[in-house]
Amino acid sequence: MNQSVVNNHKKSELLGNSVPISELRSIIKQVAPTDVTVLITGESGTGKEVAAKEIHRLSKRYNKPFVTVNCGAIPEGIIESELFGHLKGSFTNAYDTRKGYFEMADKGTIFLDEIGELPLQTQVKFLRVIESGEYMKVGGSRTEHTDVRIIAATNKNLENLIRSGTFREDLYYRLRSVNIYIPPLRERKEDIEILFRHFVDEFCSRNGINFSGITDDAMNFIINYSWPGNVRQLKNFTESIITLNTGRIITVEEVKKHLNLNTESVLPALVSDYNPKNELHLIFGALFELKKDILDIRHKLDELEFRDSLHGGLFISDDDIENSDFEKIEKEVLKYYYDKYNGNISKISDKLKISSRTLYRKFKQYGLKNGRA
Ligand SMILES: Nc1ncnc2c1ncn2[C@@H]1O[C@H](COP(=O)(O)OP(=O)(O)O)[C@@H](O)[C@H]1O
Ligand SMILES: [Mg+2]
Repeated sequence: MNQSVVNNHKKSELLGNSVPISELRSIIKQVAPTDVTVLITGESGTGKEVAAKEIHRLSKRYNKPFVTVNCGAIPEGIIESELFGHLKGSFTNAYDTRKGYFEMADKGTIFLDEIGELPLQTQVKFLRVIESGEYMKVGGSRTEHTDVRIIAATNKNLENLIRSGTFREDLYYRLRSVNIYIPPLRERKEDIEILFRHFVDEFCSRNGINFSGITDDAMNFIINYSWPGNVRQLKNFTESIITLNTGRIITVEEVKKHLNLNTESVLPALVSDYNPKNELHLIFGALFELKKDILDIRHKLDELEFRDSLHGGLFISDDDIENSDFEKIEKEVLKYYYDKYNGNISKISDKLKISSRTLYRKFKQYGLKNGRA
């Protein structure tokens, strides 16, 4: 879900000789020395995190923390405490004061992945941090300061999210002062062989395996494949095909077979990024997605005053309506509004367009306590 890495003395992890990657390198060189906020967009697995780390590595903050936060993997209810920290006792399970990611990343770089998943109310606070470096801990009343370089990433189209009302326009414009787009792997085929050979070398030396080679046909097939999961998929594919073919030259038949196997993911344990924790995050991610949808629906219903137009929540039966038991209906409706507005007569009077005096009289008649004016 998150990690803190100190990134100094490392060499670049960003490989590729294609035009887009060469351009990416030169943009990174230009923006790295500044503190400008960067938004990285591109499909999943294209190397957004690699690019963010590269910006950090080439910045003056290189020997300070690089903190990755996956906004989509943190439950909405605790995201503010995760980002900003909390004080002991600020909510039921806050047994200790906790440092937030912005505090942990102080003087370094914070990488907010899947920024489109940030809840709206957190977006307001986040905008404030970007603009002034100021924030408040959950349960705190003191303004805290942080000195962080912010890099955000998304594989979503934020403009669509703005239109659907789930992403703030002001935050979007603030974030995209520099927007770096990383094209999918299928649009930069020149990088595929370089990446493949790199993953082979890395995997073989890590595992003490000798690579027996690959036929030209097989290499060409790999180069022309569409790689919907981009570099991440290519890396997983490389590692598992080598594992299953040690001592053998990789043929095109083997590649085809393997790509089919991979799409059905019958070999999860051989996929290098496989980690039961990642799987849990996927499940949690899906659950939060679901919860968000439910909350959205509830919200929309409230907006439509759906509940007011239904007699759900009111103790009126269809019989009462059939029998035109107006007294009962009136009593239930008044009770409903009495509860809803906490007995506040002037609000109820506004809502129902009935004078306060009449309401007092009716409340008394139906045994409801004297309301508050
Ligand atoms: N240009 C690249 N050079 C080397 N490795 C890369 C490159 N792009 C991506 N990778 C590797 O592919 C995987 C996915 O990259 P990542 O940055 O996490 O993608 P994203 O954040 O866009 O989903 C990682 O293992 C990463 O190291
Ligand atoms: Mg990523």
